[in-house]
Amino acid sequence: MTQPYERIRRKSPEDLRSARWFAPDDLRSFGHRSRIMQMGYAPEDWAGKPIIGILNTWSDLNPCHAHFKHRVEDVKRGVLQAGGFPVEMPAITLSENFMKPTTMLYRNLLAMEVEEQIRAHPVDGVVLLGGCDKTTPGLTMGALTAGLPMIYLPAGPMLRGNYAGQQLGSGSDAWKYWDERRAGTITAQQWLGVEGGIARSYGHCMTMGTASTMTAIADAMGLSIPGASSIPAPDANHIRMASACGRRIVEMVWENLTPDLIVTPQAVRNATVVAMAMGCSTNAVIHLLAMARRAGVHWSLDDLDALGRTTPVIANVRPSGSTYLMEDFFYAGGLLGMMGQLKEKLDLDCLTVMGETLGQAIADAPVYNEDVIRPLSNPVYHEGSLAVLRGNLCPDGAVIKPAACDARFQRHTGPALVFDSYPEMKAAIDDENLDVTPDHILVLRNAGPLGGPGMPEWGMLPMPKALLKQGHRDMLRISDARMSGTSYGACVLHVAPEAHIGGPLALLRTGDLISIDIPARTLNMLVSDEELEKRRAEWKQPEPKFERGYGWMFSKHISQANEGCDFDYLTRDFGKAAGEPDI
Ligand code: FES
Ligand code: MG
Repeated sequence: MTQPYERIRRKSPEDLRSARWFAPDDLRSFGHRSRIMQMGYAPEDWAGKPIIGILNTWSDLNPCHAHFKHRVEDVKRGVLQAGGFPVEMPAITLSENFMKPTTMLYRNLLAMEVEEQIRAHPVDGVVLLGGCDKTTPGLTMGALTAGLPMIYLPAGPMLRGNYAGQQLGSGSDAWKYWDERRAGTITAQQWLGVEGGIARSYGHCMTMGTASTMTAIADAMGLSIPGASSIPAPDANHIRMASACGRRIVEMVWENLTPDLIVTPQAVRNATVVAMAMGCSTNAVIHLLAMARRAGVHWSLDDLDALGRTTPVIANVRPSGSTYLMEDFFYAGGLLGMMGQLKEKLDLDCLTVMGETLGQAIADAPVYNEDVIRPLSNPVYHEGSLAVLRGNLCPDGAVIKPAACDARFQRHTGPALVFDSYPEMKAAIDDENLDVTPDHILVLRNAGPLGGPGMPEWGMLPMPKALLKQGHRDMLRISDARMSGTSYGACVLHVAPEAHIGGPLALLRTGDLISIDIPARTLNMLVSDEELEKRRAEWKQPEPKFERGYGWMFSKHISQANEGCDFDYLTRDFGKAAGEPDI
């Protein structure tokens, strides 16, 4: 069998893609050269050199990427050292913190922007700077489609949070202390202390939320300098990693090491195993499907469920783990140490951006703390982090994180309490007279890709105040929304098809019994087919959410959660490839 590595060939300067812009003796190229010179560059700066686009998602409204303003200079330094010519190209940032209604509405916009920026400009290779949740899939989806040599530079997790000597985890402790505040067990002063201490440095969320999951997935696929995703953002190692990305991408261009050689079906499988072993965010499901499909790998919910059943969670990082955060994970050996523990489950022949195999990257990767990164013989959970459910409530699937929910919800039957919208739920949930018991199942619908719109992270529905006061902290919840990777609890998410397009969730009524069986992977409403038919005849499609602009386009082309929520026209098999632009 031919190893992909043997296919790598050495390019010469005249083969460079950018040479089409700059080398010919014609009027067009005269224009390109004179305009580069307008910026003060001499031919010595660019001629015959790989031009490296650095796609930077820095913004004053993205605290997770605040350091990218400086890191981009470190990447440039590396590019120059290796004999390339760096050009910074800003790309839309997707700040989980401030963008409304949800960054998920814009993931595909970033992917489109990246694909088109790469195609339209004279670049030979790219470094992608991202990390906050949707930026990892957005950047990589676009660059995978464009197909030029690429390296993903992950932002790195922020430092551990701290208040009054207590460690605080992004997201998870916000929800936890908010519930305590609503239950009246902490003071306003303490709440303010948590507010000031939970995010202490730049970098992405430092729990095993969507950001840490997605950067690890890109890393495990081979798209980052191996192990880069675990380095805390403020660590000097992160700066050195950035300049190493700059040096390496120049070599990748000469070697013509394109992402199709890296993101193979085996690499997608490796990334899925790693996600499961990390106790991944449920959002990983949607993004992993979308990224894989951009690489031409038709990955499905069933593939994820199968690997979930056989991969134990070995990263003891919150919220699936009990104590530790990403900073501890790095000190314990990071992703490389963890992949070392998973060796027998990974395809070690897969290639990384280094042009070496994964096996080479993790040979002798040490683990320094076996409580943080567990051996397979002593996992945090015996099964992986996600389970895919099906039944008459979710014929195309739904996901749950069994590791993050109370054991009594593994098999449960209870009456539904249904909310048609987030505002309706919000108005009712603090009513201390709400007719709800711990056996009830809270349901939120019309919160999916089209209904939300954009599938907001509403899936960890708040606990009803009446139950909180009785001391309850978890109950079963079902929605067609997503939830933050830092959330926890017995939440069934991504119900497909969603209610807004007439999925069976739309037919459920308050008081109907719902039955869940996680070991059997089923989720059903105990309502007869005849009754459901009757309700379907009465169902009316909700009004469209957008009648113009980007939202209108989104509504026309978004796929459901089980397909990865990509736009139909951006998928790999849609039409003839766009090809290179005429110059
Ligand atoms: Fe950016 Fe959590 S807000 S990663
Ligand atoms: Mg998040």
